[in-house]
Amino acid sequence: MRMVLTGHKGQLGRALLPLLAGHEVAGVDLPEYDITDRGALRAAIRDFRPDLILHPAAMTDVEGCARDPDLAYRVNGMGTQNVALAAAEVGAEMLYVSTNEVFDGQATEPYHEWAPRNPINAYGRSKLAGEWYVQNLLTRFFIVRTAWLYAPGGRNFPHRILQLADERGSLKVVADEVGNPTYVVDLARAIAALIETHAYGVYHAVNAGAASRYDFAREILRLSGRESIPVEPLALAEFQRASTPPAYAPLANNAAAALGITFRPWQAALAEFLSA
Ligand SMILES: NC(=O)c1ccc[n+]([C@@H]2O[C@H](COP(=O)([O-])OP(=O)(O)OC[C@H]3O[C@@H](n4cnc5c(N)ncnc54)[C@H](OP(=O)(O)O)[C@@H]3O)[C@@H](O)[C@H]2O)c1
Repeated sequence: MRMVLTGHKGQLGRALLPLLAGHEVAGVDLPEYDITDRGALRAAIRDFRPDLILHPAAMTDVEGCARDPDLAYRVNGMGTQNVALAAAEVGAEMLYVSTNEVFDGQATEPYHEWAPRNPINAYGRSKLAGEWYVQNLLTRFFIVRTAWLYAPGGRNFPHRILQLADERGSLKVVADEVGNPTYVVDLARAIAALIETHAYGVYHAVNAGAASRYDFAREILRLSGRESIPVEPLALAEFQRASTPPAYAPLANNAAAALGITFRPWQAALAEFLSA
């Protein structure tokens, strides 16, 4: 297949590239390509004529999105509109990567794929705008929601925890924000399997099991031999940030599991990541 991969320099993009080795893949990322430049993007996609566009590129800095919601909408909403319009123009399938932050975090059990969306921050609203464009401009699409990604070399929670542990010798971590720590390698494998199915729809793709940020931090310290470092639980309300995350927003994988696409527990994936 001929594929366009947006955000190929990002955490997920880098994990996807080796899995697509049997295909002809063109990358779209800054600074060479900007998805907000509709004319240039459409021309590039028209020239390449992909069968499938994988679209993980996004403004993923949630605090930055809160400080500049217009930019978040421009990149995550209208940038995705541009990608979807280009896909429609060349008759390509599209896979859009979305987030658990399209949910409000008021649930008492993990969100299934068809749960009502109600984002509470600018990042989540802008990613929901992206979902809206994909759903309304295309018929042959996948929306793959994921959460709490980490990858080698990426800016992410495990790296931050290890850095702070070594700098400070003790940590305070939020105990009432719950999600699914997810290793990009596992997500990339699931996406590579999903696109083979052509079973279009909405999917939740996260490592199995939920954790609080506190649980996640404790496991990172345990697996990296830093178990003795004290961790004080903190309430979300005590941790002032520009962007408020949904408090309880783990995702349930029903739709992908029905296709045989399942994930190992988050602790096993984290152990592999930390031993690499
Ligand atoms: N990271 C998470 O915890 C998480 C959780 C849930 C869902 N997701 C979703 O998963 C997807 C992949 O996340 P990730 O962690 O791999 O993100 P990432 O590492 O931030 O990669 C995103 C890539 O997109 C590029 N990009 C940003 N704006 C662009 C634009 N206007 N035109 C072209 N490229 C642009 C970025 O370039 P620059 O680095 O130069 O900006 C970066 O290379 C995203 O759609 C995100 O919303 C992520």
